[in-house]
Amino acid sequence: MGSTVTVIGTGYVGLVTGVCLAHSGHDVTCVDIDPAKVERLSGGTSTIYEPGIEELLAEGLERGNLRFRTPEAGWASLISDITFVAVGTPMAANGAADLTAVRTVTEQLAAAADRPFTLVMKSTVPPGTGEALQERYLASAKATIGYVSNPEFLREGKAIEDWYATDRIVLGSSSSADLARMRALYADIEAPVLETDVASAETIKYASNAFLSTKISFINEMANICDAVGADIDSVARGIGMDKRIGPDFLRAGIGYGGSCFPKDTRALDFISTINGYQFTLLKAVIDVNNRQRLLPMVHLARALPDLHARRIAVLGLSFKPDTDDVRESPALDIVPLLIEEGAEVVVYDPIAAEVELAEVERADAVWDALEGASAAIVATEWREFIELDWSRAASVMAADAVVFDGRNCLDPAAVRGAGLRYMAVGRDGAHRR
Ligand code: UDX
Repeated sequence: MGSTVTVIGTGYVGLVTGVCLAHSGHDVTCVDIDPAKVERLSGGTSTIYEPGIEELLAEGLERGNLRFRTPEAGWASLISDITFVAVGTPMAANGAADLTAVRTVTEQLAAAADRPFTLVMKSTVPPGTGEALQERYLASAKATIGYVSNPEFLREGKAIEDWYATDRIVLGSSSSADLARMRALYADIEAPVLETDVASAETIKYASNAFLSTKISFINEMANICDAVGADIDSVARGIGMDKRIGPDFLRAGIGYGGSCFPKDTRALDFISTINGYQFTLLKAVIDVNNRQRLLPMVHLARALPDLHARRIAVLGLSFKPDTDDVRESPALDIVPLLIEEGAEVVVYDPIAAEVELAEVERADAVWDALEGASAAIVATEWREFIELDWSRAASVMAADAVVFDGRNCLDPAAVRGAGLRYMAVGRDGAHRR
């Protein structure tokens, strides 16, 4: 028999949680303060771009075990045995996680609780938050509210797949009854379950993202060394990745990580360290390297083209990675203003991410329109369309002696060079020196 579940917040994490739990047969009510979102989702249209989500949404609505509500119905009627909090924790100006929404929702749930339930924190919150929320709001509630920290490790574009094929489920709680309830909820997922105290579960989330970011900044530093010594980062990454202690994943060099998690969570962890009187030197370097890596296209273009003024430059890809329309903290968005400052005429193209406000920039509807007359193309996102592009055709529409800067090391250098274009990348084959 399935559980009765409420998921508060239908952002990325909340919506994936809601549709997947419904797919597993639980009875799910998703709550969002935005009536427009609730209406759209109730009509079967997803509010995020995520492969497979609309199918699960349709399935849940049709079966009748998935519904969307606004809090207007009254919290008392919306609370379920298991109530997830999956609201946003955006980055505040000082780098800390902004917990306003988490606090508001927890306070409202505590005030409305008229029977015991389990509150499950899915939002990413700094270590110590769970304890503080319990003391401040839950302890004085009329009914007993159990607390479980259950961080998510979903990748955008692969979220549904990751939900079912996760490497682990982390549950942090001091209550064995609440832990048992959560184990039963996830019974259909074949993954090891790690049970810890609340603060450790909260820390695992930050530590995971900090470690993955460290791998990326490490390989990016190595790529820059490869450029200097004439080595090839692809071979180096393969060589070190064959060591089981290192592993082959997250060793793709490029113009740095973006997205809604790594930039926010690394800065939040740095903030948490600082306010606890500790200087997390390694993490600061990871963040620095990532900020610098985003400038790499400018460094390489300056070498290839003496003056960018009045030159047409195509930026291919706006999303922070392929298969998503998410442009949050995307390196491409940092590059565009720098090019404009140099007087370049910038044209951007992305297969999906269309809804971005960019001043003084031409938007192309097709990659060929973007490349027409361009002196350089910067591949900022490794979309399949770019990987499989006909570079001979590209060369025929681009300016003479044009440059391709492969910011994701995703193209075949021989195909680009063979088409008569100059090829530059990140630590590949000492390419910039040729
Ligand atoms: C990440 C984590 O993977 C996930 O577990 C967590 O819950 C949320 O953050 P996501 O942001 O969706 O997920 O993207 P991911 O695929 O991890 O990539 C993040 C960024 O790192 C992208 O900009 C990507 O281009 C970059 N990246 C990733 C690299 O530059 N090199 C790599 O080897 C891997």
